[in-house]
Amino acid sequence: MVLSGSDKTNVKGVFAKIGGQVEEYGAEALERMFATYPPTKTYFPHFDVSPGSAQVKAHGKKVAAALVEAANHIDDIATALSKLSDLHAQKLRVDPVNFKLLGQCFLVVVAIHNPSVLTPEVHASLDKFLCAVGSVLTAKYR
Ligand code: HEM
Repeated sequence: MVLSGSDKTNVKGVFAKIGGQVEEYGAEALERMFATYPPTKTYFPHFDVSPGSAQVKAHGKKVAAALVEAANHIDDIATALSKLSDLHAQKLRVDPVNFKLLGQCFLVVVAIHNPSVLTPEVHASLDKFLCAVGSVLTAKYR
């Protein structure tokens, strides 16, 4: 997934606009993923995955922080998320298809809260970015 210069500018612009709300967006994206694609809950048997759960909120913050880290290092997402890539591929072994689902849910959350920001161009750039993050997190499966 190659991001062009304007994709990178668009993605950075989205995260700048979202600012501190990104933590809540992370949790909302997870809630949406669990509700829309219930099989994703099987990876979290140790979590209370009901809407508003403290565990989902805390996990949403972590996911959001990883996305911000990736956006801040958009020229080298693989290095920025290297440890997370090890974790997801070697320990968690999340089926790669699920990354598309979470990425799509995050995109929907951004769209709902910022309809004017998500022009078709920005939508396309954010989609590419989320796919790039998913590729990195599933790159080390053996
Ligand atoms: C853990 C990020 C996608 C399942 C984590 C952690 C982060 C993270 C930051 C915490 C790591 C730590 O505590 O050191 C991401 C990002 C994703 C993504 C940025 C894609 C945008 C997924 C998907 C699933 C998943 C699609 C499964 C449907 C898990 C599980 C844990 C985890 C089960 C461990 C939770 C725990 O026991 O605390 N992820 N993740 N992740 N992730 Fe992901």
